[in-house]
Amino acid sequence: MKRKLISMGVISATLLGFSGIAQAACTTTTAKDDLTDEQVVELYECIKGELREGYASLGDEWGTAYPEWGVTSTVPGGVGNHGSRFLMTFVNETGFAEYVKFADEGVKMPVGTVIAKESFNVSKKGQVKKGPLFFMEKVAAGEADEFGNWVYSALQSKGKPMKIKQSFCHNCHGNFEGQDALGYPEEDYRVKVAAE
Ligand code: HEC
Repeated sequence: MKRKLISMGVISATLLGFSGIAQAACTTTTAKDDLTDEQVVELYECIKGELREGYASLGDEWGTAYPEWGVTSTVPGGVGNHGSRFLMTFVNETGFAEYVKFADEGVKMPVGTVIAKESFNVSKKGQVKKGPLFFMEKVAAGEADEFGNWVYSALQSKGKPMKIKQSFCHNCHGNFEGQDALGYPEEDYRVKVAAE
């Protein structure tokens, strides 16, 4: 399924709420591996506005909409996966309730689920670097059987679609058996949702 590019006017940086001061603070003197959760959250809060503006800048429908979806973790975690980046995952309304059960058996995400994962990194010099926005879309049986009926895609930090190979993504995601190919955020960071 091809999603449409929606046309958007130019959004000013001030509207998105990031200032020169916040940007200047997107650095750290702590080595990446030694960052505390609080420091990671601080860096995330600093880069968030700029990240989102970049992803949305060419008007991609999901790249614009995802900040309104449900967030699945409290701290951007996952160093070691996705190129040792810090990751923050959002799920649209169709799939959120199912995703945040974080079940490890018999998971079957509803068709129409779209998952977006923000990413950023911290350089050796302590600067926050923007990473891609990754997507997984659950499609109907028959549309992507080879890849568990997931369609993978990604946007570069400036909003351009990335060239990716479905097999590259799924060769790793397909290993999360029983979890419908989902990797989930680190356990300590998962949002807690009251059981039904
Ligand atoms: C080497 C293994 C690996 C590869 C390759 C990989 N991923 Fe992931 N992916 C993971 C892991 C592990 C997680 C969970 C990490 C976390 O959130 O902390 C994840 C999470 C995700 C999520 C959030 C949903 C979830 O699984 O919980 C999306 C969306 C995603 N990846 C998209 C992609 C796309 C698109 C590609 C290909 C460009 C890709 N991934 C390639 C390992 C991989």
